[in-house]
Amino acid sequence: MTCSDSQVHIPQHTPSWIRLALAAVCVAALAGVLAVGRLRPDAESLAGRPTGTRRNAACRECHPAVGDEWQRSFHSKSWSDPNVQAAFEHFGHDRKCESCHAPQSVFQTGLTNEVALRNEERESGVDCLSCHELADGRVAARRTLPDAPCRPLATPELAGSQACAPCHVAIYDDWQQSAYARSGKTCQSCHQPAVAQRAGGASHLYPGGHDDAWVRSGAEMSCRQQGAELIVQVRNHATGHNYPGERHNRVLLVQVIQRQTDGTITLAQQAVIKDITPFRGESSADRIRPGEVFQAVFPVVDPPVAAEVQLLYKRFPWHRDEEALTVHRQLLELQ
Ligand code: HEC
Ligand code: HEC
Ligand code: HEC
Ligand code: HEC
Ligand code: HEC
Repeated sequence: MTCSDSQVHIPQHTPSWIRLALAAVCVAALAGVLAVGRLRPDAESLAGRPTGTRRNAACRECHPAVGDEWQRSFHSKSWSDPNVQAAFEHFGHDRKCESCHAPQSVFQTGLTNEVALRNEERESGVDCLSCHELADGRVAARRTLPDAPCRPLATPELAGSQACAPCHVAIYDDWQQSAYARSGKTCQSCHQPAVAQRAGGASHLYPGGHDDAWVRSGAEMSCRQQGAELIVQVRNHATGHNYPGERHNRVLLVQVIQRQTDGTITLAQQAVIKDITPFRGESSADRIRPGEVFQAVFPVVDPPVAAEVQLLYKRFPWHRDEEALTVHRQLLELQ
């Protein structure tokens, strides 16, 4: 038995020291030292919330379409994903490390504060409550709907980039320094497009680095010969923050192979835009800022040759070149 599947429910509006005390009681009960009576769920608690559990499953029961999108998104996998668990293992399951991957509600800890690891239902990762639960147990929404069972309360911060900032710290900083922030183009305006099937719907799929089409849409590549040189430019023309967005795992490089008509390779060379040693820190300077261009210059060797230029993207630094996603590919004849 664990505390989360016992009948103990700790009301959310209880002062934190009482919650701590209750948690201690829970631990004591687990140890069999003390038998606690059943605590009653607070009267205000959501309709249908089973005692002693969080409400994520309940949210999904009443909002099945949003629930399906969330299930397909990486927010639902942010704890259970094997790559994440392997990384946690490497860092000795540091709570600070794990916090954003199974957090308490960002509204409860505050949008400008660090998020806190929660003790229950970690396998649901970044779930409905992580983003929607307000300190008083109501749900953050665009509109106040007094008659809806979950008691939505109009919360303007939910629709702004600051709702993503507690967890996406670096990307938020990148975004804030960009023209997108100045023109009011929020994270949600790109990552949560309207859903036609739901009136007022906003997608919860959150496509990003795991979505090939999104990675392709974020940057464009152009190539040209100038004398004895091949110039390759990669422009971040459509990503609202540095490209690639994630700092600790993604690798991005330009690869050029030049071949003569008989197939002889005269040049095989790579220019690294962003590389990373597994599990090490990395500066964001070498990702491409919004609107900016990365330029690589290659020699043209023994022309005429056919050049194959590829922009390669790896989700994890240990992936081999053959496993990389070809973001863009161009063939050109060099004289
Ligand atoms: C018992 C059913 C039920 C449960 C459980 C429930 N909701 Fe709702 N929710 C509704 C209904 C009904 C509405 C009103 C829909 C409408 O009028 O368009 C609503 C509205 C909302 C809205 C506002 C939508 C808008 O148009 O602005 C949000 C956000 C929301 N719910 C989130 C949640 C979250 C998060 C949870 C879990 C904590 C949850 N709901 C649990 C039934 C439920
Ligand atoms: C409570 C923490 C938290 C909040 C708030 C949050 N995210 Fe995330 N998000 C995460 C974590 C953790 C991941 C990584 C999941 C994984 O890959 O395991 C993630 C992943 C993503 C991804 C990447 C998916 C992919 O394919 O790699 C996108 C896009 C994203 N979030 C967008 C947003 C946006 C937009 C907001 C604000 C509306 C937001 N997130 C709010 C924690 C959060
Ligand atoms: C401040 C919140 C936060 C903390 C703390 C945090 N992460 Fe993350 N993590 C994220 C977010 C958000 C993402 C999604 C990618 C992005 O936006 O950078 C992510 C992505 C990842 C990924 C990549 C998942 C994928 O599928 O691409 C791994 C692995 C990971 N984190 C492990 C860790 C480890 C290990 C630690 C501790 C050293 C840690 N995280 C600490 C928020 C956090
Ligand atoms: C990563 C943060 C995040 C998570 C996780 C999340 N939401 Fe949302 N949700 C938002 C944001 C932000 C908006 C408002 C988007 C806007 O106004 O542009 C929103 C809007 C909504 C809406 C109103 C729009 C619509 O599409 O109907 C409902 C209902 C809703 N969420 C329910 C849920 C439920 C249920 C879950 C869990 C299955 C959930 N949300 C998980 C951030 C999140
Ligand atoms: C102008 C549109 C746009 C805006 C605004 C925007 N993004 Fe993105 N985002 C993208 C595109 C395109 C990608 C795919 C390219 C990439 O992976 O960097 C992406 C990728 C991501 C990823 C995945 C990175 C990875 O490597 O897995 C995360 C997380 C993310 N965005 C979060 C955010 C957050 C948080 C904000 C607001 C602070 C935001 N985005 C604003 C377009 C946008």
